Amino acid sequence: MHFVALLVLATVAATAAQSCVCNTMKWATCDGSPCECKITLADQVKQTLECTKLIPKCFLMKAEMYRAKKGLSTRSGGKPTDHAFVDNDGIYDPDCEANGVFKAKQCNNTDICWCVNSAGVRRTDKEGQDLKCEKLVETVWVQAQLKHKEGVSLDQAQLKSAMAKAIAERYSVDDKLVTDVKYDKDSRTILVDLRTGTSNVDIATVGYYMEKDIKVLPLFYNDSKKFSPSVDSKNVEFENILVYYVDAEPPTFTMKRLTAGVIAVIVVVVLAIIAGLVVLYISKKRQASAMYQKPEQTTELDEMQKEQLTSS
Ligand SMILES: *[C@@H]1O[C@H](CO)[C@@H](O)[C@H](O)[C@H]1NC(C)=O
Ligand SMILES: *[C@@H]1O[C@H](CO)[C@@H](O)[C@H](O)[C@H]1NC(C)=O
Repeated sequence: MHFVALLVLATVAATAAQSCVCNTMKWATCDGSPCECKITLADQVKQTLECTKLIPKCFLMKAEMYRAKKGLSTRSGGKPTDHAFVDNDGIYDPDCEANGVFKAKQCNNTDICWCVNSAGVRRTDKEGQDLKCEKLVETVWVQAQLKHKEGVSLDQAQLKSAMAKAIAERYSVDDKLVTDVKYDKDSRTILVDLRTGTSNVDIATVGYYMEKDIKVLPLFYNDSKKFSPSVDSKNVEFENILVYYVDAEPPTFTMKRLTAGVIAVIVVVVLAIIAGLVVLYISKKRQASAMYQKPEQTTELDEMQKEQLTSS
């Protein structure tokens, strides 16, 4: 009798212990009853987490930097490589408000600072410590460009509701957050628009979880559960993601950032002009030496006309 009771107790205890995990953050450490989960953000800085929701991106980035510094596995295949509006900076050690919102001004523990949007992405030039960031500009639209793996052909009509459903379920958000889904079959690209609208859901955090889900490994406790929406009863898997951020106000980069690009363009233009002159010179010479080879020229002209006709 006693033995059975003990066994039952032991089983209950074991189940309770098992369920004291942070579903939305695999690096968290949890214990106690009621179960409490924390994540280390810096030496002697532990943040209590609300594991029924996604963990704010600012905390995630900070935890990732801390782990990288300590040589702990972030199980991330390297820093993000997006060349979309701005996240080509990669990860830095952000300053977060107590509720996990990014502070408008970020310095990455150095004396070089910049202003970020609510997604923590740089939207100004990098400057000295006296840089002023008036307020945190909100990222109102996040576009995830997902490339799905080869071998499936998706039904466009079903895609929007399927993606919205999968995102709502996986990231515990309202499916109305997904405002549009576009599909290009040839490039296997699915564009998913997330907009805040009237809700105060942090779309940047959703974008960050998606990025990790596809590029690296999920941040969820069970990181073997893949993000794989079911479209027309076909499970779709992804091989790449690119995240674009659109803020309520345009970013304020100056020409400083563009210098290298502009120089490249100028070089290309100069080369093109030189090449053009050379071609002109050669063809002039050819024309002069082949004044009487008319038939060939007419065919060329005919072909050009044909092309014009077909294209118009
Ligand atoms: C932030 O600092 C770390 C090292 O201290 C560096 O590896 C990283 O590139 C920096 N990030 C940015 C965006 O400056
Ligand atoms: C994690 O998810 C996988 C795939 O869905 C499942 O097979 C496995 O049992 C899950 N593990 C835990 C600990 O929940």
